[in-house]
Parts: sequence; structure tokens; C-alpha cells
Amino acid sequence: MSAAPIPEVGARAGREGAHADAARGMFGRIAPTYDTLNRLMSAGVDRRWRLRAIAELSSAPPGPVLDLCAGTLDLTALVACARPGDRLVAADFSPAMLDAGRHKAPRAETVVADATKLPFGAGEFGAVVCGFGMRNLASTEAGAREVLRVLRPGGVFVTLELFRPERLVTRAFHRAYARVVLPTIGGWLSGDRGAYQYLARSMAGFVTRREYEVLLARVGFGRVSGFDLTFGVASIVRAEVRT
Ligand SMILES: C[S@@+](CC[C@H](N)C(=O)[O-])C[C@H]1O[C@@H](n2cnc3c(N)ncnc32)[C@H](O)[C@@H]1O
Repeated sequence: MSAAPIPEVGARAGREGAHADAARGMFGRIAPTYDTLNRLMSAGVDRRWRLRAIAELSSAPPGPVLDLCAGTLDLTALVACARPGDRLVAADFSPAMLDAGRHKAPRAETVVADATKLPFGAGEFGAVVCGFGMRNLASTEAGAREVLRVLRPGGVFVTLELFRPERLVTRAFHRAYARVVLPTIGGWLSGDRGAYQYLARSMAGFVTRREYEVLLARVGFGRVSGFDLTFGVASIVRAEVRT
């Protein structure tokens, strides 16, 4: 399958439109196999990570919750159970990803939108969760600023992400997994080896968890804190909007 190459994380400035088009196309192509591959390639551990991320929302004020870069709505479905009374919005710029997962959280509103230009009002949400989405944005900082804008004072932003690992052992594991397992199994099952090569490179080229925490503080979030899961393979960062 031919596709436009997706710019590396560090080479997206000035090419935001091209990056967004290429990334949207790629997620559209892998949407039908995304869930199967996720479960297979994380050996089911991703579900535990997701539950841990949702637990971090428990201290968020009541009110609407946004699942940003919602993909096939795995996190949305968990939020739907955790916060049965709250309005729930799943936003993603790939209609194919949303279509593949809409059945998991029927009560959620699904919105096709770019995370760096959200069609929501200032202070519309009490909480935002973003799973494995921030490293795909044309600009992480622009995405973080949008989250800050749409959250109300006291609102909570939880990021679940595969940051560039700091620990040598985890980095070696990441590299081997990313270079061999992801493109081989991902390419074989999805028929799009390039997409899984991109996903692998996007981890290595992204910021570390600590760098991301500094970025969130710089754009204006307060009480930023994070911790690692599974020896730093994945991490969670929680931040609040100052009151
Ligand atoms: C790796 S998937 C993660 C999906 C889901 N959150 C999960 O936990 O499985 C990344 C998602 O981010 C979406 N995405 C990437 N860039 C985006 C952007 N600029 N605006 C909105 N969605 C974006 C993709 O379409 C894709 O569905």
C-alpha cells in the first residue's frame, strides 16, 4: 500500500498540515486491525495501563470528560463505566478509528476533530484523558495548549503514553521491540508495515516523560506529576488546571 511518509517527531514544525494528512491516512488504513494488534502486541497489558490511567481521573471535578485522540474508544468505554453520570466526548481526527470503536461506548458523543484545533469552548470539560495520542500530534505543545483551554479551572488532564525511555534497559527493550516486533507482526496483520515502522520511530523520537512534564508546566498546567508503568515501557502523567 503506498502512502505519504509521516514526518519524524522532530521534523514536523512548518509541515503540520502534511503531517496531519499523512497520520490521518495511516490511522484510517490500520483502523480495522488496530484493536487486535494492540491486544496481541501488548500481550493484554495495555488494558491494565488504561485502567490505571482512568483511576487518575477519580479526583477530577464532576463534569464532561473528553477522550482525546480516542481512536477505537477503549479509554472512552472505561470512562463510561467510571463516570456514569457525566457527559462523555470521544474526539479523533480519523473517522475510521471512531467508526471501528463506536459500539464500545454507545452513549459517548463522537467528534471528528484535530487535537490541535478543538471545536470546543473554553472550560467545557472537567477532565481530559489522552491515550497514546500526544506523540502523534504535529505539535505536542499546541495539543497541550488546547487541552488547557478546554478544561475548566481545577480540571484534570491525564496522559497515558509511550515516552522515550530514560532507563538503558527499557530503551534497549523498546528499540528491539520497535524495530523487530512492531513492524513484523503489525505489518503482517495490518498489511501496512510502514505504519508500524512509523509508530515504532515515533516512540524513539518523542520526549521523555520528564521532558513532557516540563512542557505541561511551561504551557501553564499546575501540579504536574507522572509515574512509570511496566519498567517505564509506558507512563502516566497527571496535570491540573490552576484554580
Ligand atoms: C495510537 S492511537 C491511540 C488510540 C486510543 N486513544 C487508544 O488508547 O488506543 C492514536 C490516535 O490518535 C489519533 N490522532 C493522531 N493525531 C491526531 C490529531 N492531530 N488530532 C486528533 N486525533 C489524532 C489517531 O487517529 C489515532 O486514533
